[in-house]
Amino acid sequence: MKENIERYIRAGIRAPSGENAQPWRFFAGDSAIDVWLAPEVDQSIYNWGQRASYMACGAALENIVLAASADGYGASVAYFPDQDHNHVATITLREGGRKDPLAGAIDARTTNRKPYERRVLSVEERAALLGAAKSESSTVLTLVESRESVDALGRAGAVNEEIMLTNKKIHDFFFSHINWTRGEDDRSSAGFYIETLELPPPGRAIFKLLRSWSIARILCLVGMHKAIAKQNGATNASASAIGCLISSGTQPIDFVIAGRVLERVWLAATLRSLSVQPLAGILFLRLKLENDGAHGFGHAHVRILKDTYATVERICSAGGRPVTFMFRVGHAEPPTARSSRLPLSAVLK
Ligand SMILES: Cc1cc2nc3c(=O)[nH]c(=O)nc-3n(C[C@H](O)[C@H](O)[C@H](O)COP(=O)(O)O)c2cc1C
Repeated sequence: MKENIERYIRAGIRAPSGENAQPWRFFAGDSAIDVWLAPEVDQSIYNWGQRASYMACGAALENIVLAASADGYGASVAYFPDQDHNHVATITLREGGRKDPLAGAIDARTTNRKPYERRVLSVEERAALLGAAKSESSTVLTLVESRESVDALGRAGAVNEEIMLTNKKIHDFFFSHINWTRGEDDRSSAGFYIETLELPPPGRAIFKLLRSWSIARILCLVGMHKAIAKQNGATNASASAIGCLISSGTQPIDFVIAGRVLERVWLAATLRSLSVQPLAGILFLRLKLENDGAHGFGHAHVRILKDTYATVERICSAGGRPVTFMFRVGHAEPPTARSSRLPLSAVLK
């Protein structure tokens, strides 16, 4: 088992993370793996209370459990096994597990930000996505498929870009995470490789200009933020469905579990050649607003965030429970490029 553990951790680091920050560290034992949150990696406004990072750790944890299952190992997971809130889990492996077919999609899973084909999900696809989310009773997946609601949630997701382009702190944070060339992406091994953003040619030239806050301010005076949000809203709405994860709370454990569910649903989509893009920025900004107050946001942004969240909550029938994640899913051409990962030596302690 020991010789396989490194391979399971390699599966862990294939997991998604906000801005591809990879906010995790792993400790390997003979038959156990400890997953730790690395809080210093992501101190952004999108990561209030490290909730986005807990979610990423949950996704990494799920990949490890699945990769071990492919070798016939079962896993028991002890969440937050001691007083340290950075110690997310201890995964203990034992002989005699059953292979989970989702393990076969770990390497292929990726974010696809291209326009999708606006085609309805088949009965089998819908059942597979919903079935993958059934592993945890405390997190519920709602798939929103009516055209009108997908359009509305697509627009809601794009409110993130509207805010990002008109809030200096968020703007500077976002653009500081772009790797503008493959070489830069290879060197940093974290952040967004520009090609993964799938910008159409005119959009790309404007995007380069927008990295300067003073130019962004001028362009937004003539409505550039609205135009970009409109365009992105339409791209988001080209999905077959928008998935919302509804949790039972907003404690760290809720996000770890939501991360596990997200990864399972994403892998089930990947196995069926369905594409996925998270639309989570708006939810994490609203989480910060709700828990940390309005500082950092202007009055207009506070109102937009509240209104947008109310729309999301209503459409996905959250019934007062928190919507912790949102993503679009559908049929599309494969993405142009994939994001990098830090070497194992940087995250395995
Ligand atoms: C908590 C979390 C939030 C995310 N939010 C967004 C988002 O709002 N928009 C987006 O395009 N991608 C989002 N992503 C996807 C990441 O950017 C992506 O996983 C990361 O860049 C690695 O790329 P990969 O998924 O192709 O491996 C999010 C991922 C996680 C785990």
